Amino acid sequence: MKKPGEVFEDSRVYDPGIEAIVPRYDELHDAILNAPPQGRSEDIHVLELGAGTGELTAKLLTRFPESSVLAVDHSERMLAEAERKLETFGDRVQIEQGTFPDDHPSGESKFDLVISSLAVHHLTSDEKQTLFSNIHEALVPGGWFFNGDVVRFDADHLETLSDAMIKNWVRSKGWEEEEFMNRWQASDDYDDPDTLTDQLVWLREAGFDSVTSIWQYYNFAVYGGRKSE
Ligand SMILES: C[S@@+](CC[C@H](N)C(=O)[O-])C[C@H]1O[C@@H](n2cnc3c(N)ncnc32)[C@H](O)[C@@H]1O
Repeated sequence: MKKPGEVFEDSRVYDPGIEAIVPRYDELHDAILNAPPQGRSEDIHVLELGAGTGELTAKLLTRFPESSVLAVDHSERMLAEAERKLETFGDRVQIEQGTFPDDHPSGESKFDLVISSLAVHHLTSDEKQTLFSNIHEALVPGGWFFNGDVVRFDADHLETLSDAMIKNWVRSKGWEEEEFMNRWQASDDYDDPDTLTDQLVWLREAGFDSVTSIWQYYNFAVYGGRKSE
């Protein structure tokens, strides 16, 4: 039985697979990593929630060569892939199996930056609100949170439009969506996206300022906020 967010039965096909079903996957990651105010030379401590196979983690560690990251995920098989991929970064990366919002983040004011990609939308609305509040607590004053994720439209025709866009994307990779999902035993059973507007409001309510969305492509968005100085 798959855990929320594992997507594929076999985590070894996750990296090529996710690029085939998430339009502009790399661009979404770039938007997350372009957004923080910190420079390349800064020694920043980062928490990544739902690190999966470590794709975003590897990009973060490369882009910020002085950074260190705690990469958290509840899936052993995704983390097994991450361990292989991230070995080259040595002790700059700590991988931990854990669940959010229950186990992480825990404690106060430890991280300069919290990031996440395609993971938070598996939580219920209440869990997302708890998570945003815990993330706020875990950041240092002036620290930022950025999430790149699936969002829901509050309009049926826009949901239909997003579905059609994804089908076209998968087709551009040489597959029909259903055939692809069946072949690679992929599913989005646990998806529970909320609207971008609700989530921006929840970030404000959790105490963040400068709350904003910086990138959107149909039902994928990158958004976040800053903990006040
Ligand atoms: C679709 S993958 C995204 C992986 C990676 N961030 C990326 O951009 O490719 C979602 C990841 O979030 C993890 N995940 C989902 N819900 C979680 C939770 N509540 N606690 C911990 N990990 C979770 C899954 O195990 C999975 O590895």
